[in-house]
Amino acid sequence: MPGLVVRMLEAAGISDGDKVLEIGTGTGYSTALMCHRLGPAAVTSVEYDPMVAGRAREALAAVGYAPTLVTGDGLAGYDKNAEYDRLIATCSIRYVPLPWLWQVRDGGTITAPLSGWLGGGAFAHLTLADDGTAGGRFLRDDLHFMTARPHGRPPLASPHLGIGETRDGRVDPRVLDDRTGLFVAQLAVPSAVRLGGGDEVVLWDVGTGSLAEVTAGTVRQRGPLRLWDAVEDAVLTWRAAGSPDQTAFGLTVAPGRQYVWLGEPDGPSWDLPA
Ligand SMILES: C[S@@+](CC[C@H](N)C(=O)[O-])C[C@H]1O[C@@H](n2cnc3c(N)ncnc32)[C@H](O)[C@@H]1O
Repeated sequence: MPGLVVRMLEAAGISDGDKVLEIGTGTGYSTALMCHRLGPAAVTSVEYDPMVAGRAREALAAVGYAPTLVTGDGLAGYDKNAEYDRLIATCSIRYVPLPWLWQVRDGGTITAPLSGWLGGGAFAHLTLADDGTAGGRFLRDDLHFMTARPHGRPPLASPHLGIGETRDGRVDPRVLDDRTGLFVAQLAVPSAVRLGGGDEVVLWDVGTGSLAEVTAGTVRQRGPLRLWDAVEDAVLTWRAAGSPDQTAFGLTVAPGRQYVWLGEPDGPSWDLPA
């Protein structure tokens, strides 16, 4: 964990004079590093779990640091100390909470791992524009943190029963074993989970109970969503672009829409479930 959070702070580009909002105090280790570098007055950290927050507060006090420590849901940010130069999340998000946009100054940055229920991920580093939007290309780093509590997966809806529709597959399910392939699939079916692996996969949509049973040759789909159709379309778009890694993708966040794009902001895109 220490190595991970150091990479996170480096990726965020935190430097002298920055005022930072951290989401996910955890042990307080990254908070302490920022207090050492920036001074405690420049650091605000939010922790969801009261017990964890209490332990971090004691640990930080023991080494002489008293930053602003908040117990609550960091997805709401902390507007009392806004505006911030940098916002970093050491927990993963499915989409960018809008309060973060309102609490970071124009030209400031938001750095957070983006992940989803399928298990795909990318590392977002967004710059705030003066029109109230934020955007940027994903970073190369492959950092995984636990999912932010309110973005966790709800219980699965009952699966759709019945024969469904069967057809030949266009894309082998082993594409989900590739880091970027999994990320692309998740963009296409953001509320699905994966069961199985290798050449026999089931996608199960959390909200509708739609199912796709996929083998190397055959696809059977049931329920209102055609999950594997959506995955195949996205994967074929990605392959047509040369199967680049996450750094070829970017994220644009606006109050009405958040979308991941491939290549350039006006390239092929997929909306996040904001
Ligand atoms: C990987 S740990 C953080 C590591 C931490 N920065 C450190 O140096 O130890 C993730 C933390 O995020 C917290 N967390 C999860 N969801 C949160 C939320 N919505 N708001 C604030 N904290 C959250 C978890 O309780 C956990 O302590």
